[in-house]
Amino acid sequence: MAEPPSTRYALVGAGTRAWKTYLPLFAHPSPGRSLVGVADSDPRRLAEVAERWSVPVYPTGDVRPMLDDLRPEVLIVTSPDCAHAGQIAAALDAGVHVLTEKPMALTARQAASVVAAERRSRATVRVAHNMRYLNLHRTIRDLLAEGRIGTPTRAHLSYRLRPDHGRSYFLRWHRRAAASGGLQITKSCHHFDLLNWWLADRPQEVTGWTGRLHYHPGPDRGDDERRVPADADIADTVSAVIRYRGGAIAHYSLSARSPWEGYTLTVQGTDGELAARYEVVAAGGARPADRYTVRLSPVDGPPRRITVPRESGTHSGADARMLAALLDGALPDGELPDGGAPPAPGPYGARGPAATAVDGAYAVAVGEAVTRSAAHGGPVAIDGLLPGLVLPEATAGRSV
Ligand SMILES: NC(=O)c1ccc[n+]([C@@H]2O[C@H](COP(=O)([O-])OP(=O)(O)OC[C@H]3O[C@@H](n4cnc5c(N)ncnc54)[C@H](O)[C@@H]3O)[C@@H](O)[C@H]2O)c1
Repeated sequence: MAEPPSTRYALVGAGTRAWKTYLPLFAHPSPGRSLVGVADSDPRRLAEVAERWSVPVYPTGDVRPMLDDLRPEVLIVTSPDCAHAGQIAAALDAGVHVLTEKPMALTARQAASVVAAERRSRATVRVAHNMRYLNLHRTIRDLLAEGRIGTPTRAHLSYRLRPDHGRSYFLRWHRRAAASGGLQITKSCHHFDLLNWWLADRPQEVTGWTGRLHYHPGPDRGDDERRVPADADIADTVSAVIRYRGGAIAHYSLSARSPWEGYTLTVQGTDGELAARYEVVAAGGARPADRYTVRLSPVDGPPRRITVPRESGTHSGADARMLAALLDGALPDGELPDGGAPPAPGPYGARGPAATAVDGAYAVAVGEAVTRSAAHGGPVAIDGLLPGLVLPEATAGRSV
């Protein structure tokens, strides 16, 4: 029997995310995929890669020599956020598909340029918005798509990080807005994408606020866990109101210092309300419950509880599902078509919740709108931040 065709992957940015999530996929020979090369601007990282994988390594953030030499089919982008857009565009221009870590780009303008590069390329982009693949999130999306609360009118998503996690953003490269865009890009892009996906709509206008209320940049005195490096210029508190094309309004907040980690969510609709709580770490650092509960309360009728088992694995099982869907083309159980979008070409499978370049662009644009609104006051129009992004679905807003 003929062997299935093998997909050739190259990777750029061999740091924590790559070592934990992507490189292990190539730890054992697989007929379906192979790692053909790795690039990283830090030669020490490459020395570790070369020790473990016998593939060519490229000590540079410029992916073009690696793509020219090795001709992979897919480039996995796991470099810092500020490097993504240029590397993605270079791959697309070389006809190489891209699986990129979130955020797809640092700015909305960069994100729009990635979408433009994809449109002129035969290759496609998928954004690793892994939170879409969490079983709880899939359940919420299904319930909303089935119209269980009617048409969504309002959402409240309040995310928080435990101090050890929240503070870590102020210790790594993320602490510089020029590298990460601030938490409203590097972290909240997950949540903005979830809101966009759950509500099955595009954001139209955003008013936002940011503050640094917990962590204080300055000289390290060693005795104050709220003290962070002096060059940290990002906020630790983010708040936003997002108005959607169809009329729904979402209220969002993020705090980087909280007794527990996860979120509370309420979505109100024309016929009822959905409420959920996602705990990554419970208060006091305790292990969270083994099941999530989604409460569905119709306007007319008794409330219902739906329980969803907590899955094991990184990001509550989301990473394994995402990789199965994106790398192997296999669809996780209970998959829904991606909002009726046309099947995506490339090695990603034809259906699924995969985030496209356009999805990635909207998640980044909401984050940038928060930054701009926080700096200058007032609402920021999303379409104005995505120049040239004339979208077929631009007129598809729902009436509520
Ligand atoms: N989806 C998730 O849940 C999740 C989780 C963690 C990180 N991430 C994302 O993964 C990416 C990597 O994060 P990380 O935590 O692994 O960071 P990291 O600092 O651990 O690793 C980044 C690597 O990229 C290299 N690098 C730096 N600049 C480069 C450039 N211009 N070109 C090529 N390589 C470069 C560094 O030497 C390092 O090896 C980020 O975009 C981050 O937002 C996503």
